Amino acid sequence: MAKKKIVVLTGAGMSAESGLKTFRDANGLWEGHDVMQVASPEGFANDPELVLEFYNQRRRQLLEVAPNKGHHDLAAMETDFDVHIITQNVDNLHEQAGSSKVLHLHGELLKVRSTENENDIRYWEKDLIVGDVDQNGHQLRPHIVWFGEMVPQLDNAIAITKKAEVLLIIGTSMQVYPAASLIHYVRMGTPIYFIDPKSKVGASDFPNLQIISKTASEGVSEVIRMLQKT
Ligand code: APR
Repeated sequence: MAKKKIVVLTGAGMSAESGLKTFRDANGLWEGHDVMQVASPEGFANDPELVLEFYNQRRRQLLEVAPNKGHHDLAAMETDFDVHIITQNVDNLHEQAGSSKVLHLHGELLKVRSTENENDIRYWEKDLIVGDVDQNGHQLRPHIVWFGEMVPQLDNAIAITKKAEVLLIIGTSMQVYPAASLIHYVRMGTPIYFIDPKSKVGASDFPNLQIISKTASEGVSEVIRMLQKT
C-alpha cells in the first residue's frame, strides 16, 4: 500500500532550537541588518564585502550547529510516510537529520555560484570573499535567492504541494511570497497542521487547519501521534 504523502513547509523556526536565529523574532536576523543591504542583488552590487561577510557569518555558524529533535522526527517519519520537505531555510539541517527529499526554495548556504553562469554551482564551506572567482574570472556569490530574485524551484514546490495528502507547516511567519502562497495549492479538504509557538495565522482562514502552538520539536511528535491514529 502506498505511503501517505506528507508535504512539510518549513521556515526559520524549524532551526531555532538548533541555535540559528530566525528573521522576524525579537533579536532576529533582520533586526540587526537592512535586508536590502545584505540580501538583495542591489546590496551585493553596492557592497559585495558586506554581503559576503553576512553570509560568511551564517555559514560559519551553520558548521557549528546540529539538527534538533524536530528535524530528526521529520526524517524518521519517512519510515511510515512519503515525506517531501519544502524549506525556506538555507541551512542543511534537514539533510543532516536524514530527510531524503528536501527542496530549498531560497537556496543553500553551503553552495556558491558564478555571477556569470547560474548553472555553475559549487559546494562551499569556507568563507567566500571578493576575488573568489569562477574559471572565467567571474566573482562567485552565495547560492541564495535574494529579495527581488526569482524562486526557480517554485513550480516544483507547487507540483509537490498539489499532491499532498497532509500539509505540515512548521516555523514560518508566512510573510514572504511566493513561499507563503503554497498553502493555497493543497486540494480542498487536505488537513493542514500549523506548528508555531507564536502562530499568527487565523484558524478561520482555512477550515482544515489545526494550529499547534508548540515548538518544532514538541509539535512534530504531536502531529506524528495524530497521524498514526488516522
Ligand atoms: N519552533 C517553531 N517555530 C518557531 C520557533 C520554534 N522553536 N521559534 C520561532 N518560531 C516561529 C516564529 O514564531 C515565526 O512565526 O518561526 C517563525 C519564523 O518566522 P520568520 O523569522 O519570518 O522566518 P521565515 O518565515 O522562515 O522567513 C521566510 O524570509 O527573510 C526571508 O528568505 C528569508 O526564508 C526567509 C523568509
